[in-house]
Amino acid sequence: MATRFHKKTKALQRSAGSPIGVFDSGLGGLTVVRELRRLLPSEEILYLGDLAHLPYGTKSTGEIRRRSAECARFLMKKKIKALVIACNSASSVAHKDLARILPVPVLDVITPAVEEALATTRNQRVGVIATYATIESRSYAKALEARSPEAQYFLKPCPLFVPLAEEGWLDGKIAEGAAEKYLAPIRRKQIDTLILGCTHYPLLKSAIAKVMGPKVRLVDSAIPTALRLKTLLQKKGLLSPRPRRAPLKIFVTDYVRNFARIGESFLGEKLKTVKLVKVP
Ligand code: DGL
Repeated sequence: MATRFHKKTKALQRSAGSPIGVFDSGLGGLTVVRELRRLLPSEEILYLGDLAHLPYGTKSTGEIRRRSAECARFLMKKKIKALVIACNSASSVAHKDLARILPVPVLDVITPAVEEALATTRNQRVGVIATYATIESRSYAKALEARSPEAQYFLKPCPLFVPLAEEGWLDGKIAEGAAEKYLAPIRRKQIDTLILGCTHYPLLKSAIAKVMGPKVRLVDSAIPTALRLKTLLQKKGLLSPRPRRAPLKIFVTDYVRNFARIGESFLGEKLKTVKLVKVP
């Protein structure tokens, strides 16, 4: 499949005016789009939410890789100039392959979060919370080890945070109860920095902060990923020359209950152009 993918996409022409492609298992990746829109308002963004196959975080590596390849193929057909894998689970297991195969720059969300965390920590003790798929892939562990042999890290899957965020239970008793149960062991490790290694977790920031206490800094990948993309486009002379704010087009493979409410809470603005598409 990889070779066919390569041949099909290699010949496409990209220019500074081409859009940026972003995909995620669902709507959580809109937290990354929110920062991209803030930092790069002239860039047209095509966002694909693979809602028909949500969640990725409990699926096998093979299945997440297959879905990621299909999402990338869909966006490549739309002549994107760069691809952002906004999903931590997909970034963890599919980034290397996609970066090798695709003829455009491919950004993951793990590296920017790790670099930000290492720049933030003072005591070199970093916690990482994420889905099962992300934790089991050891993507964060490997990225931390590669950049800082002295840093100690503590990993913890927090699967219930995803449905809580989707239900809009962002604070209050239930969110804080779940946070206390998941985070108490990691709090005991005396970390001073906690990576929110899942698209949905930034929405639960206040409950997480309450449980972790004021001394622990929370890091998520949205802002550092947007900064990284901006630097990369600048270097390659691919920044959009558009003088106005560019459109955001959202594609989804299925609709879910409370779609607009959830999407808008992640994106921080109204969902305008949303199109249902088939991505096999
Ligand atoms: N987007 C996923 C992630 O960041 C969370 C939701 C899912 O499990 O698909 O890992």
